[in-house]
Amino acid sequence: MKRFGVSLEDDLLRELDRLVQKHKLPNRSQAIRFLIRKTLIREDCQGNKLVTGCLAIVYDHHKRELLNKLVCLQHDFHHLILSGQHVHLDHDNCLETILLKGRAKELNDLAKKMIGLKGIKSGELITCPIR
Ligand code: NI
Repeated sequence: MKRFGVSLEDDLLRELDRLVQKHKLPNRSQAIRFLIRKTLIREDCQGNKLVTGCLAIVYDHHKRELLNKLVCLQHDFHHLILSGQHVHLDHDNCLETILLKGRAKELNDLAKKMIGLKGIKSGELITCPIR
């Protein structure tokens, strides 16, 4: 553990103390750790970092319009898509897993587009940095 001094304007220090209270953190140091980690995670997930991803979506295949939109999106973003697998879970439901590779922000944007389609029951993107 290293110690260092931090200089902050009064209003910024007040905001830091507000965060300490809001998140029930024990002290200002913990608040600064919290903010750094949060920023790093956000950078990893939305930034320019090269990542692989696995997008899983569950939907009802009777919704034809949805199927068409899903296929169109995959063709529009074929440069990010490595492979796709479709599993028929039961009479109504399908699970599709789509393996992706690209910049974190691109993968997140595509995942949001797909998960946001009307008729998608659930969806989740997992990303892993390549280096
Ligand atoms: Ni199916």
